[in-house]
Amino acid sequence: MFRTDLFKGKRILITGGGTGLGKAMARRFMELGAELHICGRREGVLQEAAKELADATGGKIYTYPCDIRVAQAVDDMIGTIWQQHGPLDGLVNNAAGNFISRTEDLSPRGFDAIANIVLHGSFYVTQAVGKRWIAEQRGGSIISIVTTWVWTGSAFVVPSAMSKAGIAAMTQSLAVEWGPKGIRVNAIAPGPFPTEGMTKRLAPTEALEKRMISAIPMRRVGNMPELANLAAFLMSDEVGYITGEVIAIDGGQWLNGAGGFGALTDLSDAEWQEIRAAIAATNAKDKAQRTV
Ligand code: HXC
Ligand code: NAP
Repeated sequence: MFRTDLFKGKRILITGGGTGLGKAMARRFMELGAELHICGRREGVLQEAAKELADATGGKIYTYPCDIRVAQAVDDMIGTIWQQHGPLDGLVNNAAGNFISRTEDLSPRGFDAIANIVLHGSFYVTQAVGKRWIAEQRGGSIISIVTTWVWTGSAFVVPSAMSKAGIAAMTQSLAVEWGPKGIRVNAIAPGPFPTEGMTKRLAPTEALEKRMISAIPMRRVGNMPELANLAAFLMSDEVGYITGEVIAIDGGQWLNGAGGFGALTDLSDAEWQEIRAAIAATNAKDKAQRTV
């Protein structure tokens, strides 16, 4: 689908690039010649991913343990990339946190856990990169991974829906503000692409997973290469006139009114308790691996 040298000489940062969708995009960009930079809170996970991707593609990849909720840590990481390697050409805001929960069960910390990563963290990274591009009078391409809830909202993932809608607003706002500086700002809204992070927090039981798939017009979940190809397309200078867009890749799910979790309104207290326990186990396992 693409020239194999499409990203030759390009340097791209993907936040949360050590797992799931981020890792799939990193692989595709490296296959197309990019030098990759990835960050996350689990150093071991990043290093393992980097080794796997370097072995598979023969490309260059660098890792940064960084919590994007901490603005100073983000600025330090971006400064390090600039100093040690040179300016970035592309950024993918991919890191996120999410879990399904009844909104009345959320504590303020529960809301902040999502909003601090998705809304605040994505802003910190975008600004740290954008201000350097502007100071150096160079352009760049930014892609943020959102959800189709930016158009519809969604029951049971309210902190995520609010935060992703904020990123969609940032995408449109900066497309205009930074357009004259040669910076393109776009977003991708994927439907379900099974990853450990998503499946265990949003479809943590088999029954929930089945429900989700039966409401997708294409009757299947997404394949990683499909998402990675869309990201490569949007990142490329070859589509340099696209900016301010949010593009869905969801098998028609949201047009079928099924992008969100409205169908879960009939779950019982016991089922919500089961879901919360399953999510807590996943969160504890991930947390034990964090190094920042
Ligand atoms: C209610 C919950 C909860 C749950 C956690 N909390 N799980 N509340 N229901 N199921 C509450 C906790 O009780 C606590 O509040 C607060 O959230 C913070 O919990 P911590 O574990 O201390 O959070 P933290 O270490 O900051 O971790 C953040 C996280 C975690 C978001 C909770 O899951 C994470 O880091 N996730 C990163 C990976 C991820 O989520 N990937 C999924 C991406 S999929 P109290 O008050 O009790 O202390 C996606 C969209 C997919 O984004 C769309 C599909 C279509
Ligand atoms: P994932 O594997 O859990 O990816 C999330 C990544 O973000 C992890 O690598 C995680 O690494 C990183 N991260 C989380 N908090 C961070 C923080 N504070 N600082 C730095 N890194 C952080 O889930 P995924 O399914 O691939 O999701 C990737 C993106 O796609 C997200 O934006 C998600 O909302 C979006 N999305 C996914 C789907 C889907 O079906 N999978 C659908 C729609 C949208 P650490 O835990 O090591 O920090």
